[in-house]
Amino acid sequence: MSEQKLYYPPEALVKNAAVSGMDHYRRLCEEAERDYEGYWANHARNLLTWKKPFTQVLDESNAPFFKWFADGVLNASYNCLDRHVEAGKGDRVAIIFESDDGQVTKVTYAELLKRVAQFANALKALGVKKGDRVVIYLPMGVEGVVAMQACARIGATHSVVFGGFSAQALKDRIQDAGAKVVVTSDGQFRGGKQLPLKAIVDEAIGMGGCDTVEKVIVNKRTGMAINWVEGRDLWWSDAIAGQSDVCEPEWVEAEHPLFLLYTSGSTGKPKGVQHSTGGYLTHAALTMLWTFDYKPEDIFWCTADIGWITGHTYVCYGPLAVGATQVVFEGVPTYPDASRFWRMIEAHKVSIFYTAPTAIRALIKASESNPDVHPKRFDLSSLRILGSVGEPINPAAWEWYYREVGGERCPIVDTWWQTETGGHMITPLPGATPLVPGSCTLPFPGIQAAVVDETGNEVPWGQGGFLVIKKPWPSMIRTIWGDPERFKKSYYPADFQGKLYLAGDGAIRDPETGYFTITGRIDDVLNVSGHRMGTMEIESALVAHELVAEAAVVGRPDEVTGEAIVAFVVLTRPRPEGEEAAQIVKELQNWVAKEIGPIAKPKEIRFGDNLPKTRSGKIMRRLLRQLAKGEEITQDTSTLENPAILEQLKG
Ligand code: WTA
Repeated sequence: MSEQKLYYPPEALVKNAAVSGMDHYRRLCEEAERDYEGYWANHARNLLTWKKPFTQVLDESNAPFFKWFADGVLNASYNCLDRHVEAGKGDRVAIIFESDDGQVTKVTYAELLKRVAQFANALKALGVKKGDRVVIYLPMGVEGVVAMQACARIGATHSVVFGGFSAQALKDRIQDAGAKVVVTSDGQFRGGKQLPLKAIVDEAIGMGGCDTVEKVIVNKRTGMAINWVEGRDLWWSDAIAGQSDVCEPEWVEAEHPLFLLYTSGSTGKPKGVQHSTGGYLTHAALTMLWTFDYKPEDIFWCTADIGWITGHTYVCYGPLAVGATQVVFEGVPTYPDASRFWRMIEAHKVSIFYTAPTAIRALIKASESNPDVHPKRFDLSSLRILGSVGEPINPAAWEWYYREVGGERCPIVDTWWQTETGGHMITPLPGATPLVPGSCTLPFPGIQAAVVDETGNEVPWGQGGFLVIKKPWPSMIRTIWGDPERFKKSYYPADFQGKLYLAGDGAIRDPETGYFTITGRIDDVLNVSGHRMGTMEIESALVAHELVAEAAVVGRPDEVTGEAIVAFVVLTRPRPEGEEAAQIVKELQNWVAKEIGPIAKPKEIRFGDNLPKTRSGKIMRRLLRQLAKGEEITQDTSTLENPAILEQLKG
């Protein structure tokens, strides 16, 4: 890697950057090292407005359940809205919303504050109180941000569920969180199609076990026909009718749970990652200023959906905390055609653009067959910084993004982080870090990342190992909702004496520069199009089908989606072939889409009379991964109970 070309930031950018040059970067790292608590306390004080200032910084007394700024009191929505309005910036545009069909609406900070306050009052009128959970199942749009901010305003803990998740997945999340209210819309627009949402909420609640849900608030988006449950359902417009657009924020302690966000782990059950208010918001704001070098003249656009962590930190909270003008979009990058992103960057003069490698790869492909959607057809001169998130970006995609989109003048910040980390952890800083395609480079100042072996000892640079974070940081996960034991086991395992945060990714550092490269998950979690999927989750969904006796799911590298899901399935009936097999494949794919969501659909399903197992009955996933890739099995298979099965599963 050391021999690769380095890409240096342009002079003009370095000059005005918040973190300017590598010496500055190193000074910040040293400052954090010297006085870790003082460093974070300064940021928390300078970046946020506190109702009651904190006197405690890091509380490690109940490790690994760390607390930050615990005796401080604040409100996230106040920090994202009121304080900008109070500072005379109410007329500034907060959100430029572009819908699936290209209609543009602009909302100022003053208007957004009123809408949030009014919806907050509506929630209060329905009996939602501090600490209650509200599930938000909405498409991308201003309402999603309003609903999240309104929860924050009254101290209710939101749990956003991505609009692509199925009724079953939604039900599991409503139930686990014990939600009092569900906020949804009749439907959503996506790629020119109308898709239902309210019907899925009805189905989820209809499955039983969601008795905590008292009200379902429905925003009218598509106008499609929906069922109505009298007494439970109410329209958004009716809920806010007559409500004041002023709402005193609920002042909460810094550790108050701002939100839960469910993510996949290595067991079948998704984990409700719990985040705090003060520590989370501190890092959301700081990374806006340093990773994105955000300046008041910037137009910021993060393309992530609010259903994912990226949409939480870099749509709902980070940009608003720093008073930015941001673009929010509904739809997909390929509709009405694959120039949607470029057209929007041109139209809205976007200067900071943050998206996922999957989208880049899909758009590269599209522009190869259709020159009209190539970025060079558009005026992208407003861009100054590009970002990448969610999965490793392969050097070829990186180079294209850098050249064709950024015109070789925009640094790419390849940000490594996770739902659990709340914000960026390892990332270039655009006015400082020389870039290497495919590397997320160096830790954010104050974040102490390392690569260790299975006993927790740091390995030499150039040697692969487990990625860990050595010290607690303000925006870290606080616990898994309702399952503190699982939190400890998953993230602070005994192998490391409970002292290191285990990220679940493998990493390697460049022997000369120490730059980090992420080598992929070390657990049974797949990353498909930047979405985390547990293999066990998909397996559980498959075996719930009456035709399936046993299933094993693995990932296979995929040109566009990063990884693709391949399922090996044993049926309860004889192994099918030809047309019949194809039909069962279709049926099972649709089944998984229904059980979890379309993002979990296996790309390929292969049938066998059995799965390759050791004599003790353990499925040999390593072999399955090789089979999925179409590789010859070269290693010793003598521990296999049934070596003949490999031939059948060859695809
Ligand atoms: C992967 C998304 C390589 C990684 C913010 C991580 C990445 C998981 C990168 C978290 C990156 C995220 N380079 N891999 N820049 N960013 N990942 O929770 O495997 O949806 O553990 O958070 O995505 O996914 P999550």
